[in-house]
This record gives sequence, C-alpha cells and structure tokens, in this order.
Amino acid sequence: MTALVIERARLVTGTGGPLRGAALGALRVIEDAAVAVAAGRIREIGSTRELAARHPAAERLDAAGRALLPGLVDCHTHVVYAGSRIGEFERRLAGESYQQIAASGGGILVTVAATRAAGLDRLVDESTPRLRQMLRLGTTAVEIKSGYGLDLETELRMLAAIERLDAALPLDLVPTLLAAHVVPPEYAGRAGDYVDHVIDKLLPAARQWHARSRFAARGVPLACDVFCERGTFDVAQSRRLLAAARALGLPVRAHVDQFEALGGLDAALDLAAVSVDHLEASTPESLQRLARSSTVGVVMPAASFHLGQRYANARALVDAGGLLALCTDCNPGSAPCPSLPLAMAIACRYQKLRPAEALNAATVNAAHVLGLGAEVGSVEVGKQADLLLLDCRDWRELAYSFGGNPVAAVVKNGRLV
Ligand code: NIG
Ligand code: FE
Repeated sequence: MTALVIERARLVTGTGGPLRGAALGALRVIEDAAVAVAAGRIREIGSTRELAARHPAAERLDAAGRALLPGLVDCHTHVVYAGSRIGEFERRLAGESYQQIAASGGGILVTVAATRAAGLDRLVDESTPRLRQMLRLGTTAVEIKSGYGLDLETELRMLAAIERLDAALPLDLVPTLLAAHVVPPEYAGRAGDYVDHVIDKLLPAARQWHARSRFAARGVPLACDVFCERGTFDVAQSRRLLAAARALGLPVRAHVDQFEALGGLDAALDLAAVSVDHLEASTPESLQRLARSSTVGVVMPAASFHLGQRYANARALVDAGGLLALCTDCNPGSAPCPSLPLAMAIACRYQKLRPAEALNAATVNAAHVLGLGAEVGSVEVGKQADLLLLDCRDWRELAYSFGGNPVAAVVKNGRLV
C-alpha cells in the first residue's frame, strides 16, 4: 500500500553512479513531479496527475513547486566524541597552528582524554544534538569514525555509541574504525608498536563487534581508516595497517595529504582503497593517478575554511575524469561543522565546483564511498525514501545561500521527521 505521495515537486536528483568527470554535473530535473513512497522506499516517480490518480488513498504532501532532492550523505565525520576544543580555537586565533597545538600535546589527544573519561551514555548524549542538527540541515546518512579512544575498550565504546545512535535516530549511520588516528600517550614514540597492537588486537575485535552488530545485519560494512601524516603514521605504517585490514576483508580508506604529501595517497591506491580523504597538499601527479583509479577522492572544504588553509584541488580531479565526494569532516578540531550545504557552498566558491557537481558529490558519490550506492544518494525507484524538500523552487539555493537553512522538511525512510 502506498503510504505517502509527495506531489507538485520540482524533482532534482543525480542518477546511477558513481559519477566521474563530466558526468558529475548531470542532474535529472522533473517539473510537477510526484514521488510515491511505501514501506520506506521509493515505489514510483511520475507526474502529479498520474500518481494522484493511481494512489487516491495515500497521504499527500504538497511540495507547491518547491525543490525535492535526495537526502544528503556525509561520508566522512568524527561526530562522536566527548568534550570541547573551543580553547584550542582561541589558541589558533592567537597565532598557534593546528600542528603546533597537536605537537604540544593538545589537539586530537585532548578529545581522546575526554572520550576515554566518558561512559557510553555520555558519549551518546553529547553526540545526539550534533546528529540532530545534521538531520535538520538535510543529511540523512552519516559515516562516523572511531579514533578518539585509541585503546581497545574506548574504541569499542565509540563503535557501540554509533550503534546506539543509529538505533535511536532517524539517520543511517555507518561506522569506520580509525584506531590509527594518532599515537596514544602510552605508545608515545612507538608508533610502529601501536600499529602492531591495532593489527593484532583492535582490528580483529572491531571486526567481531561488527559481525554481531545491527550494521552487519543490514549489509552496512565496517571500513578501516588511518591518518597518514607527519607526526601520526608514516606511509609504511599506514600501508601495513591497511593491508592487514584488507586481508580481513574490510574496505580501506585513508586520511592523506592534509598538510604534506608523504606518499600515503599512492600507498592507498596500491591497496585499492575505497577513498582517499583530505588531499589539500596532493601533487598534480597524484591527483592524475587518483583520477584514473576507482578510488574516490573525498574533500572537506569546511576543514580548510576553519584552519585557514589551502583547499584540495577538487576541480583538477574532476576535470581529469576522477571520482569526487564532499563531506563535512565534522569534528571538534579541524571542522566543527555539521552542515553539508555549507560544505557545498564553500566548495563552489573555493574549489570551483558547479552546484550540480557539489550536489552529486554529497549524494550519489558519497553514498558509493559508504557502500550504500544501491540504497541511498538519489531519488530513484527502489531506493530508500530519503528526501529533502527545500523552501525554494531553485535548488541551487542550497549552495548559493549560506548561514541559513533552506531545508523545509526531511523525509527519512518514507517518514516526515
Ligand atoms: O580529518 N586529520 C585528522 N583527523 C581529523 C581531525 C580530528 C580532530 O582534530 O579532532 C580530520 O581533520
Ligand atoms: Fe577526518
């Protein structure tokens, strides 16, 4: 039984995918469109006249000509954590850099200490408002990384928090193990030993947790990520960890080239990573190699904005025919930003994306990064009914305006939330 028909909409969506090169800018636009939803899925797309006649008993939502888009997909966040880093923000404004603060024992390790001290309930409580805010801003699926625990107990607690939040909130969450985020204090100066520990203990434990979690039951994978950078994990260590994760059958991803191009991007490509993320410092040659691969380049304009740093050359990646996705990177240190529309707005201005490219990068291609390309990321028959109704007719407001919220309503799994 069709439960809901959204009618008189201007439907705007990417289709198929993943979308590379020129195809990233392609959108399907249907005027006076209707979308019929049943059991949480999109059953039919047609004209308002057609679908209204076919489903007279369904509940109706009148879009009144406003834009209807797919729910946004945030494919890279660190939104589960405890505590605050506002003090560090003040230090940066007074002249210290993100790396200087990290080298002095601040930065990610401050959030690690707060997260280790927080129980599961507090972790869930502190993260819930951030996720609700993301939902109001149009995001209906969010990847969340561990990486503020860095010991077996706390990494598993972070994963448990992600699972609890997934059950409690009308959002699809996707967990990623980022046990190799930074070297924890008890392994200071022994990054290699910590990588061994992650490979021997944390990785198998996380894999076991995942197998029994609600994620495995729904076909949502657990990926393994690493932060490859000077002062965290070098290329050889990153390669070793990702190879071990791959051998266990996990999709692999890597934070590479945020501050320096060390070679982590090439190592990740050798291991057929699902994505390489950041890319602010990537060389033109690496971006060309990335463009020829099936690995997605994930860029995070809000992090460059917040840190006052260069932006990844997303334009070059797309022009070379590569796969691009956009994310918020939402985290307390480099991007305290829940808004994918703001990330799109910045990407259009400083990474020279067209609004259509930014939208597909934050929907179709982001869903592909998470292994959810068949379920979410576009308004197509058979997919989950995750939809955004904007408060305007021209959907480009999403990337054009900033500082507000043009999302009038969010439908998640066929329900108005
Ligand atoms: O993607 N680069 C490493 N990790 C995060 C920052 C996390 C933090 O500062 O707490 C990032 O930018
Ligand atoms: Fe990150």
